This record gives sequence, C-alpha cells and structure tokens, in this order.
Amino acid sequence: MARVDVIRVKGGARLAGDVTVGGAKNSALKLMAVALLAEGQTVIGNVPRITDIAIMAEVLRRLGCQVTLDGTEATIDVPAEPGSEADYDLVRRLRASICVLGPLLARRGYVRVALPGGDMIGSRGLDMHVSGLARMGADITGEHGFVIASAPNGLRGSKIWLDFPSVGATENLLMAAVLAKGVTEIDNAAREPEIVDICQMLNAMGARISGAGTSILEIEGVDALRPVRHTTVGDRIVAGTWAFATAMTRGEVTVHGVRPEFLDIALDKLVQAGAVVDPGEQHFRVRMDDRPKAVDIVTLPFPGFATDLLPMAIGLATVAEGSSLITENIFDGRFMFVNEMVRLGADIRTDGHHAVVRGRERLSGAPVRATDIRAGAGLVIAGLCADGVTEVGEVHHIDRGYPDFVSDLAKLGVEVERADVPEPTFDF
Ligand code: EPU
Repeated sequence: MARVDVIRVKGGARLAGDVTVGGAKNSALKLMAVALLAEGQTVIGNVPRITDIAIMAEVLRRLGCQVTLDGTEATIDVPAEPGSEADYDLVRRLRASICVLGPLLARRGYVRVALPGGDMIGSRGLDMHVSGLARMGADITGEHGFVIASAPNGLRGSKIWLDFPSVGATENLLMAAVLAKGVTEIDNAAREPEIVDICQMLNAMGARISGAGTSILEIEGVDALRPVRHTTVGDRIVAGTWAFATAMTRGEVTVHGVRPEFLDIALDKLVQAGAVVDPGEQHFRVRMDDRPKAVDIVTLPFPGFATDLLPMAIGLATVAEGSSLITENIFDGRFMFVNEMVRLGADIRTDGHHAVVRGRERLSGAPVRATDIRAGAGLVIAGLCADGVTEVGEVHHIDRGYPDFVSDLAKLGVEVERADVPEPTFDF
C-alpha cells in the first residue's frame, strides 16, 4: 500500500517564542542559476534545506556542474562549457528551472529547456521571457514541448519594456544581459528583494548593473564573470507566514533572519488588524492580544502585498471580526485552495480575482489537502485556529518551501506531528 505524509495540528495553541527563517527559496534557486555564468567554484550560503533546492542541484548536475549541498551551503563547480539542455523530467518538478534559459543562452549561445507548464496557482506564461531575449537578438522557437533559443553571434544589449514586472522574466533577462554586447535597459522590471540579491551577487562577480530595487535596470555587458561566495537574503515569505500565524493565534513571536522593511505592507495590515509590531534590523516581533479585526488586502508586485502570502491573508480573514475583501492580482488560480479552507468551516466566496471572507470565531478541524506550497502552509496555520485536529495531506508541497516547518511549530508551542499514513489503492 502506498504511504503519504500528512501534518496533524491540534487547534487552540497560542504561538509564543522565537523563530529564525533561512534564506529565501526564490532567491537561492536563482542564485544557483547565476553560478552558471562563471567557470569555477561558486559558494552560496544561507540556502534553505528544501526539496526545490535539491531539484535545482540536480538540474545543474545534468548540465555538467558538480554540486554539493552541505547544511545551508551550496558549492557549485561550473565547467568551462556547461551543457545546454534541461529535460522535462526535472523542469516539470520545478518551474524555477526555466531560469537557466538566460544564463545558458549567454554562455553557450544555444539552449533547449523543457516548457514547465502551468501549476496549481495559474497558467504562468513565458511570453515576456521570450520577447525580451528576442529583443536581445536571440532566435527562439518552441517545439516538442521545449523552448529552443540560439544566439550564435552572441546577445546584444537593447531596451526592453516588460508588460508586467515579472519576477522570472526580469531574472532571465538580467542573467542574459550581463554577458551581452553593449547596454541593456529593462523597464518595468521587478523590484523584489530577491532581484536585488541576484543583482548584488552578479555585481560581485564583475557584472555592471545599476538600478537594482527600482523599476529600471541598466546592465552594461562584460566579457566574463568570476565565481564568488554569496549569502542568500532571508525569506520574507516564510517570515510573513509566521507573522500571520502569530496574529491569528493571538500569540507573541519574534521572527529573526529577515529585514522587516521587506514586509512593510504585510506587517502594516497586521497592525490594522490590531497587532503590535516591533521592527528591528534583522528581526521583528508580533503580538496580538485580541481577536483580529477584518482588513482588506490586495496582492501586487513588490513592494505591494505578496501573492505568496495570500493564503495567510485569507486565513487571518477567516477568524477575524468582520468581513474582508481579498483581491489577487498576480495568479489566476491562486484561490484553488479556498475549497479546502471551506472544509475547515471558513466562510469564503470567490468571484474572479476577489474573495469575500466573513470571519468566524473558530474554525473546525478536518482533513484537508495542500494544493501548493503557500496554500499548504496556510491550511496548517488555519488548523491552529480550529477546534480539534486538522490533518493536512500532500505535504510534499510544504516541503518545497518551508524548511523545519513542523519542528518550528512545535518550538512555538503547537501540538503537531508529521505522520506517514497508508493511502488506499483501488484496483479495477
Ligand atoms: N507572466 C506572464 N508572462 C511571462 C511571465 C509571467 O504572463 O512571461 C505572468 C504569470 O503567468 C503570472 C504573473 O505574470 O500570472 C507573475 O509571474 P512572475 O513571472 O512574476 O512570477 P514567477 O517568476 O513565475 C515568482 C515566484 C513565485 C511568486 C511570483 C510573484 C519563484 C520560483 N517563484 O514566480 O513564488 O509567487 O514570483 O512574486 O521565484 C512560491 O514561492 O510559492 C511562488 C509561487
């Protein structure tokens, strides 16, 4: 009989204590791709111990790199000529592996990467990656489920306007532009702290990028980059998850390892809901004494409220006093998990990219299923505000983004266990 992992939490705990977050998944994955741009040994510190990093390590190994993951350090030895193909069996497990497109095209002049396809939070196109690289002189086609890009005479700097500040497109174009001939300007670029992290690593490698953290990135191409040692920025989404969980359980927690200004809007929403937030330099403390008050939340690219915290925003709304209007502007399928929240007794109605949530005093523990990384974490946290036990299945999603999730919950006072349960099979 097949076996599956579940997380069981007992509702009613009040989170209290200290928790430390590791490096940002969405930075570390791309920093590993950045390593491809320089021959030799790159070392990346503060790498989270999560499944996605292990998959990315395998993507790089298939490209001819030697990769070791030791604790929170990734050491990547890049050959003079890395491979130029990334296959579907790995890319389908990790959409972020599309970020090898830019660096491999820049170094090899040819790349063939499997199309990642959509995932449970939406359709997730690649048109801006493709049109940006085409503007830099690449010839791009799609066939048999692959994106094939070639630039036999090298890429050339050019002016690129993004229709939307896409994180992935900005990263791919940055990683291509650093080795292009001439100057590239990316207008309406993403401004996430993870983009700034990538720019800092690239500049330390010898790249010439200005404007990191603003909407206009200017990149002067150089002939070659050198490997470096770099430390990943802290994970603001994991930190934000703990902040919302604390507010929902009327607890008091200090979250270490991230600069609170990366969460300005999210923490301000918690203050509006009644929490007390004390920001430090690399930490912040959240305390909530009473039942949270309903707040409206709208997701937007950074510095707006992060879409990856949407399940936590919905979770807060489900137990708040009053009704909240939650609007999602980034992914068309982000509300997929809402049916699971409804199984916990939440009162949620969605219409297009809006959700109206009427808060309840308590939720009611039930078996539910994670549909993506953030929804999984959001369901576990909602379970903390439910009577009885909530069992969250398909927790492999949570493993993709939250290192030590269960042990951190336990340290903060939650009765929680991870269990391996048999999954029935039905033969025809
Ligand atoms: N989009 C297009 N065309 C493109 C690129 C994007 O239509 O060429 C659309 C997408 O379909 C989506 C929106 O633009 O609707 C935003 O996409 P973006 O490119 O900004 O996101 P991403 O690079 O695919 C990263 C994170 C996500 C995070 C988003 C937004 C990684 C590996 N993933 O995705 O993280 O939600 O930025 O901040 O960095 C997660 O960690 O759970 C996660 C989903």
